[in-house]
Amino acid sequence: MPWYYAVAERDHEIQNPTSAEKILLLGERLRLSPDSHVLDVACGKCGPAILLARKFGCAITGIERASEFAAEARERIAASGLADRIEVIEADASRAEIEPAGYDAAMCLGASFVWADLAGTLPHLRRATRPGGHVVVGEPYWRRWPLPDGIGDDGYVSLHDTVDRFRAAGLTVETLIDSSLDDWDRYETLHWQALEDWLAAHPGDPEADELRRRHEANRDGYLRWQRDLLGWAIFVGRNP
Ligand SMILES: C[S@@+](CC[C@H](N)C(=O)[O-])C[C@H]1O[C@@H](n2cnc3c(N)ncnc32)[C@H](O)[C@@H]1O
Repeated sequence: MPWYYAVAERDHEIQNPTSAEKILLLGERLRLSPDSHVLDVACGKCGPAILLARKFGCAITGIERASEFAAEARERIAASGLADRIEVIEADASRAEIEPAGYDAAMCLGASFVWADLAGTLPHLRRATRPGGHVVVGEPYWRRWPLPDGIGDDGYVSLHDTVDRFRAAGLTVETLIDSSLDDWDRYETLHWQALEDWLAAHPGDPEADELRRRHEANRDGYLRWQRDLLGWAIFVGRNP
C-alpha cells in the first residue's frame, strides 16, 4: 500500500495548516540568529526548518521517522544550500537521545502524538531546551466547547485549556500564532488534489479502493464539522 500521507502530502512543503509567513513570524518571535540551535521533532520534509534556517541562519536538528520524508528533506536541504545548517536524523523521536538543555528552542509542529499527547510531549521538549529558551508546539484545539454530540474530542481541548497544559508543564505561553481558514483549506485541499491525481493514475491498483475510502472520509469530516470546530495554532512557551 502506498503510505497514505506519502501520497496525500506529495505537494506539501509545510505539512500543517499554517503558512510560510507564520513560520517566519515564529522565527522572529523566537529571536533566532546564526547562534541559535533549534530541535525540530517530527520535522517531516523540513519545510519549516528550511524557511527558518534560510531567513535567520540558525542551525536546526530535525528528527523524522518516515524514511520517505527524511529523504525528501535531505534533498530539499541540499538544493537550498543549507546542508551546513540543517541535519536530519531518521529515527523515532520518542526513542532518540536528545541532549538535555542542548537547544535554544525545541519544537514539534503537528506531532505531539510522538509522546502520546501534548501533556506527554511538553516535558521532553522542555528538558531539551536551555533555561530561558523556548518550547514550540503546533497543536489542534477545539474552537467550541463542549463539542456537539457525536464528535469525539481526540484528546484535544479548548484554546484556554491547551495553554493551561503549558502552564502545568512549567512553561509560560508568550506567543500564539493561530491558523486561518485559508491555511486550513490550503492544507486540506492539497491532500484532495494529490489523492485524486494518484487515484486517476492508478485505477486498477489493489489499494485504490481503500485509499479513496479514507480520502473521502477525511474530506467529508472536514467539510461537515472539522472546518468549523477544529482550530490549530503554534504555541510558544518560555522555559524559565
Ligand atoms: C503533520 S507532519 C508535520 C511535519 C513538519 N513538522 C511540518 O510542520 O511540516 C507529522 C510528521 O511526524 C512524523 N512522525 C510521526 N511519528 C514520529 C515519531 N515517532 N518520530 C519522528 N517523527 C514522527 C511523520 O512522519 C510526519 O512527518
